[in-house]
Amino acid sequence: MTAATDFNDDMLSLALARVTEAAALACRPLIGRGNEKAADQAAVNAMRLELGKLDIAGTVVIGEGERDEAPMLYIGEEVGTGNGPAVDIALDPLEGTTITAKAMPNSLTVISVAPRGTMLHAPDVYMDKLAIGPGYPENVVNLDMTPTQRVEALAKAKGCQPSDITVCVLERPRHQEMITELRATGAAIYLIGDGDVAGVMHCSDPDTTGIDMYMGTGGAPEGVLAAGALKALGGQIWGRLLFRNDDERGRAEKAGITDFDRVYSLNEMVRADVVFAATGVTQGSLVAGLRPRGDFIETETLLLRSKTGERRRMSCRHPLT
Ligand code: FBP
Repeated sequence: MTAATDFNDDMLSLALARVTEAAALACRPLIGRGNEKAADQAAVNAMRLELGKLDIAGTVVIGEGERDEAPMLYIGEEVGTGNGPAVDIALDPLEGTTITAKAMPNSLTVISVAPRGTMLHAPDVYMDKLAIGPGYPENVVNLDMTPTQRVEALAKAKGCQPSDITVCVLERPRHQEMITELRATGAAIYLIGDGDVAGVMHCSDPDTTGIDMYMGTGGAPEGVLAAGALKALGGQIWGRLLFRNDDERGRAEKAGITDFDRVYSLNEMVRADVVFAATGVTQGSLVAGLRPRGDFIETETLLLRSKTGERRRMSCRHPLT
C-alpha cells in the first residue's frame, strides 16, 4: 500500500526533467577530463539551481552528505520555492563520477521525489543490496541466502538453469569471493566499474538488458534511489546497512535508525509513490548520453511515475549558448 498523499506527481514528474538535464549538461565539458570532483561540483551547482525554481517545499533526505561536509544539497537542506507540496528528495547529481571522468558508460544524473516523511533517510554508509526484476513471487530470494542459493532459487522461479542467469556485480576486491562462488554456479556475471543505481535498474527488464539479478555492497544512498526507480519499473530490492565503525553507526542514529541489522524491502525504503528522473551523461544502456548535434546538445531523460506506472523517455535539444 502506498500513502495517498497528493504531491502533484504528474506535473512534478515533467519538471524534474529540467533538473536532471541541467545537471547532465553541466558535466559535459568535464567528461573524460579525469577530474571527478569538478564534474560532481558542476552537477551539484546546476541541479541545486534548477531545484530552487520548483514549486515544492522539498527536503533533501538523500543528498551529497552531512551538512558539515557538503555545502550544497546536503542532507536536510530545504529546496524549492516553498510554495507547493511538502516532499522528500533523494538525489545524486552525478551517479558515476569516476565513469564521467573516464568517459566510460552509464553515468547518470538522478533524482527521486516522494511525499514528505516517506523515504528512508539512509546515512552515507555501505548497503548490502540484492535486486531482481518484476514477475517473481515475493521474497523468492533474500539477503540471508548464499549467492549460490539466490542463483538456484531465481533460476527455479524463472524456469531455467543457473547457467541461464546473469548477475550484475560491482567490480571490487571485496566482491571477489562472491564472484568466485557465483561463477561456480554457472551463472554469468556482468561486471560494472561503478554506478549501481543503473546496475539495479537493469534488473527491471532482463529481456532487454540480459541482467536478472543485482547483488553486492555499494552506497546506501544509491540503494534508496534504486528502490525509487524499481518502485516505478517493477521488481524487488532488499538492503541491509553495513557499518565499518562507530562514526558510521552515529550517522545512522542521527538519521533515526535504531535497528542496525534490519533488512529493508523496497516498500520500506520508499513507503509511498515516487517520481523519478534520470538523464544520461555518458553513453548508457538505460538512457543515451549527451550527444552534440551541431548547435545543440541532445539529452535523453527517463521519467518514471510509480502511481501510474508511466515511463516516459524525453529527448531534448538544448541550444548551445
Ligand atoms: P559516485 O558517483 O559517488 O562516485 O558513486 C559511484 C558508485 O559506484 C555507486 O554507484 C556505488 O553505490 C558506490 O560508488 C560504490 O562505492 P565504492 O566505490 O566505495 O565501492
